Amino acid sequence: MKAVRIAANGGPEVITLTDVETREPDAGEVRVRHHAIGVNFIDTYQRSGLYKIALPSPLGLEAAGIVEAIGDDVTRFKVGDRIVYASGPLGAYAEANVVKATQAVKLPDAIPFDIAAASLLKGMTARFLLRKTFRVERGHDVVIHAAAGGVGQIAVQWAKHLGANVIAVVGNDAKAEIAKSLGADHTIITSRDDIAKRVREITNVGAHVVYDSVGKDTFMASLDSLRPLGMMVSFGNASGPPPDINPLLLSQRGSLFLTRPTMFSYTATVEQLDETAADLFDVIEKGAVKIAASTRYALADVAQAHRDLEARKTTGSLVLIP
Ligand SMILES: NC(=O)c1ccc[n+]([C@@H]2O[C@H](COP(=O)([O-])OP(=O)(O)OC[C@H]3O[C@@H](n4cnc5c(N)ncnc54)[C@H](OP(=O)(O)O)[C@@H]3O)[C@@H](O)[C@H]2O)c1
Repeated sequence: MKAVRIAANGGPEVITLTDVETREPDAGEVRVRHHAIGVNFIDTYQRSGLYKIALPSPLGLEAAGIVEAIGDDVTRFKVGDRIVYASGPLGAYAEANVVKATQAVKLPDAIPFDIAAASLLKGMTARFLLRKTFRVERGHDVVIHAAAGGVGQIAVQWAKHLGANVIAVVGNDAKAEIAKSLGADHTIITSRDDIAKRVREITNVGAHVVYDSVGKDTFMASLDSLRPLGMMVSFGNASGPPPDINPLLLSQRGSLFLTRPTMFSYTATVEQLDETAADLFDVIEKGAVKIAASTRYALADVAQAHRDLEARKTTGSLVLIP
């Protein structure tokens, strides 16, 4: 099969597509033939070396497809089932991958492969952020960064569904229009607005929670956007890692809470995974969260997908078609 490998960390040019042997699943594993592959910002961190992986390495954590072989002791799936996974193992950028059965979920018939690959990792992220890390309730002032991106578009709609007052932070006017069309109540444009000042104008006292995936460029402005006892959720580094901070900064701004969550902690057990995915499929199936048509690339063009994602050229999700 065709599969991506990287031999060294670096820019998108380190990505190569090669022929490799598929392997038979061991006990507890299934082999899934991919129909659509999710591209996530974390893949660029693993490629660049911001997040360490052992090299040489496959890439990609998320794909949807059909089970074509099962190992011993697998009762969760049978050959022919439609499934999707979002926490690896690395190797989703390929025509097939062998995954632990307990790390995949069955796909409802109503959800096509490309929508699944576009939404499982990003949607389960939106779900734990809004339902577990900080429980968003009706009337909460909620700031969502990169609101027109993959995670952002889902988070904006879900936060509105929960009744929040959504303040969407985006890079340009076209992205602001997307955020508004998804229900955002207010938009802030990073290239010209003072984020904290605008959030204070909108909320008077600051937001209950800020979901910041941009990191370096916005972290301090996000802290300054919170009300006393507000929750700073730093969950990504699209512009680079956030600064090291002294805990006193939290006390000076009114006893803020700071967390740096990852989806993998919130979907670590099969029960957590099933609950999180079921909640996501539910909001998709009832139409509360609509997954926009994703930007599609051939698997062979994955380096271009990384370039576009890192250059802030994309909106919504990106998928690779093997
Ligand atoms: N902690 C977790 O478990 C978890 C899980 C999933 C994703 N994430 C994080 O969530 C974020 C979104 O992931 P995604 O895959 O959906 O990507 P995405 O939001 O579609 O793309 C990243 C967006 O970040 C914004 N951005 C701001 N400054 C940037 C810069 N210097 N370079 C690149 N982008 C910049 C851009 O939007 P604007 O132009 O509108 O600013 C860009 O479109 C990422 O930071 C990712 O690491 C975290």
